[in-house]
Amino acid sequence: MAFELPPLPFAYDGLQPYMSAETLEFHHDKHHNAYVTTTNSLIEGTDLAGKSLEDIVRATYNDGNRTKIFNQASQAWNHNLFWPSMKPGGGKDGMGLPGELEKAITDTFGGWDQFREQFVATATGQFGSGWAWLVQSGGQLKIYGTPNGVNPLCFNDHALLGCDVWEHSYYLDYRNRRGDYVKAFLDNMVDWEAVASRMAR
Ligand SMILES: [Fe+2]
Repeated sequence: MAFELPPLPFAYDGLQPYMSAETLEFHHDKHHNAYVTTTNSLIEGTDLAGKSLEDIVRATYNDGNRTKIFNQASQAWNHNLFWPSMKPGGGKDGMGLPGELEKAITDTFGGWDQFREQFVATATGQFGSGWAWLVQSGGQLKIYGTPNGVNPLCFNDHALLGCDVWEHSYYLDYRNRRGDYVKAFLDNMVDWEAVASRMAR
């Protein structure tokens, strides 16, 4: 069965003023949609047809003959995680942090401020297009950046949160100020309840 574009789980203007309706219309309806439909057309008639997106990403990572499929499938998966990671009224400023997540962040990074600083530095330090991730790896929280569509599935890590730092995610609203976008993402957009619900216990 072909993959489908999941609907945006909030109104296009739901994240304003932090992410505009125009950005979301392009990013979800054009970019994400293209990753989904191109994945479908590339896997049709191959041994990957009928496999899960996760399996396709793992099977094609670092396979030089299937780079095109990896790029599209990984980006389809990344955006499937990205939209439900945000919500209107979200962010640390809007909703605080669920207790178990706050404890894990404090235990690992020393506190919210240190976590935020490290996440922003990772996201702004990622050269070119890519993602910044908060993952569970071997039972530990970790932050790292990846280029292009590479994601935690490639390293058998469990993704809790991914921040899209491709220019299509922020350029209309923030121009070249990627750091301001990432701060707004953490402070005003992330659905921290959703992030906490992904934690393996
Ligand atoms: Fe994107």
